[in-house]
Amino acid sequence: MAIPNNKSTNQFLNNVIEGLSKREKSVPSRWFYDEEGSELFDRITKLPEYYLMRTETAILQKFANDITDSFDSEVALVEYGAGSARKVRILFNASDRIRMYLPFDISVEHMERTVVRLKWEYPELLIRPISGDFMEKGVSLQLAQKDWKRVGFFSGSTIGNLSNKQIAKFMKSARSTLGTDGILLIGLDLPKPLDVLLPAYDDAEGVTAKFNLNILQRANRELGADFKLDAFQHSAIWNESESRVEMHLISQHDQEVSITDKKFNFKKGETIHTENSRKMSIEYLSKIVEDWTVYTYWTDENNYFALVMLR
Ligand code: TRP
Repeated sequence: MAIPNNKSTNQFLNNVIEGLSKREKSVPSRWFYDEEGSELFDRITKLPEYYLMRTETAILQKFANDITDSFDSEVALVEYGAGSARKVRILFNASDRIRMYLPFDISVEHMERTVVRLKWEYPELLIRPISGDFMEKGVSLQLAQKDWKRVGFFSGSTIGNLSNKQIAKFMKSARSTLGTDGILLIGLDLPKPLDVLLPAYDDAEGVTAKFNLNILQRANRELGADFKLDAFQHSAIWNESESRVEMHLISQHDQEVSITDKKFNFKKGETIHTENSRKMSIEYLSKIVEDWTVYTYWTDENNYFALVMLR
């Protein structure tokens, strides 16, 4: 296959080669979310084992009025990683003060479909989609009116997929986007018993396994790699000292994989580390949010998940 000449594909190629050249192999998780990956993730959020989506949605429904009560003026809402924008609709339905919606998403095709539906459902709402990685790209709120309150929505416990250094960077960029009187709403998956936690990352139907393996399939599709999908197995393990679920793809036997002119050797049992999902308490979060302060938060009756408001 020819060497890719598109910027994003090139970045993917560099990231894969760099990650697989390390002693402990890894591939950065942002590459999960192509069109197929975004659709598989959508299916994950509907699985019975994936309590995160259900619980966060229930919290939003129960406290939507409390949350939007603090919107004391018209609002421009930025969503970091919008996906299908299901949860944010609860806020739209609770408050007619939300005038502008700026959804960020890494999958362009997925976002285009979401925006078409939203425009139909909320004809009054000004929608300004931004495609790309919110960790790298800034948001321009120039089109929002000066006296509108700026609210950031970072749901799904995506914050748990970031390192402390990335969280610090995100917090700084959110502050510069949302301004000194901005509000940030963060969905946070809390520490909990492993018999509840682990099945959410290793469901019976195998959708999460497919989602994890899609990163290799994408490398085959876009980079002409020759990963054999049945030669790697999805695994979710709990790392107690880091308080995180780790997603890995485990090589089932000794094998060699080619990507462009590079060859990578895998021993039986060797893993490719693809994602971390950290589980933090609110106290822990409050210490790593730079110049933001935890103002209030809402949880479910099991204390599985929290919606945290920072100011
Ligand atoms: N933000 C989600 C989470 O940490 C992302 C996610 C869910 C995920 N399931 C996954 C990432 C499986 C990789 C593999 O819960």
